[in-house]
Amino acid sequence: MFSPETQQQVDRLLSRYPIRRNALLPLLHLAQKENQGWLDSRWVNHVAELCEVSPTHVEGVATFYTMFRFRPPGKYHLQVCTCVPCCLVGGPEILEHLEHKLGIHAGHTTKDGLFSIEEMECIGACSYAPAMIVNEDYVEQLTPEKIDQLLDTLATTPQEQETHA
Ligand code: FES
Repeated sequence: MFSPETQQQVDRLLSRYPIRRNALLPLLHLAQKENQGWLDSRWVNHVAELCEVSPTHVEGVATFYTMFRFRPPGKYHLQVCTCVPCCLVGGPEILEHLEHKLGIHAGHTTKDGLFSIEEMECIGACSYAPAMIVNEDYVEQLTPEKIDQLLDTLATTPQEQETHA
């Protein structure tokens, strides 16, 4: 199921783990990346096979961690922190502003598939709160104006370009 390039990474990874089940988390990361940012039952089963564990075990581990997703994210996945330090400087208002602008609630994706929002616990950027992660890039010291600007830029970014918010 993995592309030939990713399969090479999988093989290298498995060769470093004499006990296959210990490779579960890195394999889930690779699987999610390979499947456009989310895991479905086919990938859960495939990872289970590779790790020689049951699909139920893989599901149990994957659902414990917030970084694994079980629905397709938008092209731009906005992960907004509303944990206490961010909360004290406007994290919830930032989330509300995003929800209002995009017309969706956290946990959902816009109809055009461009944006999805997820509410997060601390993302490790407390010194630059309020903060969020857009795909894999941090965007910090957020304000409603900064959000508006960012959404405009992302919405007009040609599809083939990478995100660097
Ligand atoms: S509480 Fe928001 S980044 Fe830590």
